[in-house]
Amino acid sequence: MCGIIGYVGFREAEPVLLQGLRRLEYRGYDSAGVATLTGANLHVRKKAGRVADLADHLHKHPAPGCIGIGHTRWATHGGATDRNAHPHLGGKGDIVIVHNGVIENYAALKSQLQADGVVFHSDTDTEVIAHLIARQDEDDLVEAIRRVLPLLKGTYGLAVLSLREPGVLVGARLGSPLVLGIGDGENFLASDPSALADHAERVVYLDDHQLCVLTADDWHILDRDRTRITPEVQPLVNTAASLDTGVFSHYMLKEIYEQPEALENALRGRLDEANATAHFGGLNLEPQRLRQIDRIILTACGTSYHAALVGEYLFEEFARMPVEVEYASEFRYRNSPLDRNTIVIAITQSGETADTLAALRESKRKGHPTLALCNVVGSTIAREADGGVYLHAGPEIGVASTKAFTNQVAVLAMLALYFGRLRHLSSLQGEQMIRELQALPDQIRRTLSCHERIQSIARQYAWKRNFLYLGRQYLFPVALEGALKLKEISYIHAEGYPAAEMKHGPLALIDADTPSVFLVPRNSVYDKVLSNLEEVKARGGPILAIASEGDDEIAERADEVVYVPQVADHLQPLVTVVPLQLLAYHIALLCGRDVDKPRNLAKSVTVE
Ligand code: F6R
Repeated sequence: MCGIIGYVGFREAEPVLLQGLRRLEYRGYDSAGVATLTGANLHVRKKAGRVADLADHLHKHPAPGCIGIGHTRWATHGGATDRNAHPHLGGKGDIVIVHNGVIENYAALKSQLQADGVVFHSDTDTEVIAHLIARQDEDDLVEAIRRVLPLLKGTYGLAVLSLREPGVLVGARLGSPLVLGIGDGENFLASDPSALADHAERVVYLDDHQLCVLTADDWHILDRDRTRITPEVQPLVNTAASLDTGVFSHYMLKEIYEQPEALENALRGRLDEANATAHFGGLNLEPQRLRQIDRIILTACGTSYHAALVGEYLFEEFARMPVEVEYASEFRYRNSPLDRNTIVIAITQSGETADTLAALRESKRKGHPTLALCNVVGSTIAREADGGVYLHAGPEIGVASTKAFTNQVAVLAMLALYFGRLRHLSSLQGEQMIRELQALPDQIRRTLSCHERIQSIARQYAWKRNFLYLGRQYLFPVALEGALKLKEISYIHAEGYPAAEMKHGPLALIDADTPSVFLVPRNSVYDKVLSNLEEVKARGGPILAIASEGDDEIAERADEVVYVPQVADHLQPLVTVVPLQLLAYHIALLCGRDVDKPRNLAKSVTVE
């Protein structure tokens, strides 16, 4: 989704801004632009398309100056065109801004401004903010911005430059992340710390309703009353190594291959063999309080929601606790009766997903204890939850989530173990779960050896237009996840279903051109899934089975089989999801898709 980079210092801003924008590309966008300032001139350059298109444009029309702002835009209001790309000028061209987020009351504000004779040059909500700031009879940029912010309904991360205060860069945040990077004789502003890699070693995350004021030699944070805040300055975790694809052709493939190591990082230090349980540093809830919890709500979006569905089975089986899984976008507006011993757990890779954040805030407002399972350290959700567990998957750049899913499921399994051991789960059962978890990274390494086989299967199936993914129990969420992976990066229609539901409707879809991917490793429902498989086969549907090593029987029933190591039922999501990720990857490649940056999608969904 949209990305912001800002710079003020002693160097030419343009290359710094371009590099920051390249770092933000993974978030998903459809246009990019920069604005720099020299003397009494603002230089605005923007282009629909990729950052590379903007770089070409800048080659012919450079943007000089040692202060500037840049933006990658993911279209919300108005198409992906040059004129809608940020930055946007306000007034007579003396204010320039970039904006992440959505201004919900922009139409009303725009009508008022137009009635006053303001001429608009774009279809964006953002341009409203630029004109409002420019219209304040105020040379002090911070003051002008402060007067406008209360007029805005919605969310914003803003970076603003003004000809009236040429050496000053101002940022403001409500609901859309901003981070300030501290340099030596130079300072930076970004929506995502990855844009600051190589530049700043120390960062400050802004909170909602805060502003930041940056000059080359100084910076400070203000609250909405303009009182200076003493913020926490944190080291910037160096992510630079993860920011290129290394020997892999895409981030997605690299991240699929990183899963065994990512998993080791998630497990490290958290399995307590002596007490046959798991432990976590940041739950911030005493075991006595956790013991009183009698209901769990897991809330998330997209792939993280699928991990939450696996979590539901895990908590019910091992902790014997009732669990509900809610789409964050629905949960945030529902008035579900929750009693006071309900804990709400938000699951998110980015820690910035707008709906998940809103669901977390609503739960906190109602007084429920909240936990967050987050990957991005220092993200808004990680900071706002009462407690949490980091996923330690490392930066995930590919838009399609892979290793974050694996680590979410692993962390949920450890939490289920921990909650279970606070209740009835015996030490023998706890020890067994620990051994199974410890063995997983190597089992996933082994699973990756199916890569070539998947590649050849993908060649046969890439031209089909519809797929079904079918599984039961722990593997139903994996069926959903496999279908999501395929549709988001290959643009081929796919549905995930509980295998036994087929006969209640979807079986009508089956024909020789509609492959079904069956998740059928040996487990407690193996025979049942085999019957479901036969029902599809009897109707002429091609079948690709993901099965346990050593299962020769399945080879006679399915058209293609991919074998994965035999693991305990509750850990099967982790080994079966890997071939599905690879299948989606190879089909998307064969379809000529931009695997890491699929159309219309963003890595971090910071609007509602
Ligand atoms: C799919 C995918 C998305 C995200 C969803 C939630 O591959 O990546 O469905 O899972 O947008 O994002 P997070 O986990 O950052 O809250």
